[in-house]
Amino acid sequence: MSAMVKGERPYDKDEFLKRAIYLDELAHMAWEGFIPGSDQGAPTKAKPEIWKEPAKFKQNQEKLQVETPKLVAAAKTGDMNQIKTALGDVGKACTNCHDDFRAK
Ligand code: HEC
Repeated sequence: MSAMVKGERPYDKDEFLKRAIYLDELAHMAWEGFIPGSDQGAPTKAKPEIWKEPAKFKQNQEKLQVETPKLVAAAKTGDMNQIKTALGDVGKACTNCHDDFRAK
C-alpha cells in the first residue's frame, strides 16, 4: 500500500482496498497470539512490557483499530489525498506500539 501511495507502484483502487480490508481484519485478530508465556521458548521481539502493561498494550491495539477502518473508507473513495492521510495515521499507530513493545 505504501508503495502505491509513494508512486513506486501504479495505484490500483481495488487492490488497495482489498489490502486495506485485510489490514483492518488483522488489526482485530492479531492480538490473540500474545498470550502470557508466548515470549518463552522461541525467538521473539515481543518485550516483557506487553504482559506488565497490558492496559497500555491494549490502548495501542485500539488506536490501530480506530485508524484501519478510516483507511478502508479512504480506499473506497479512491482519493489519494485521503488515502495518504489515513495510511500515515495507520503507520503512526504501528510505530507507536513498536516503540514501546517491540524490541529493536
Ligand atoms: C499493539 C501493539 C502493536 C501494533 C499496534 C502493531 N504492532 Fe507490529 N509488532 C508488535 C510486537 C510486540 C511485535 C514483535 C512480535 C514478536 O517478535 O513476537 C511486532 C512485530 C511486527 C512485525 C515483525 C517485525 C520483526 O522484526 O520481526 C511486523 C512486520 C509488524 N509488527 C508490522 C506492523 C504493522 C504494519 C502495524 C500497523 C498496521 C503494526 N505492526 C502494529 C506490536 C504491535
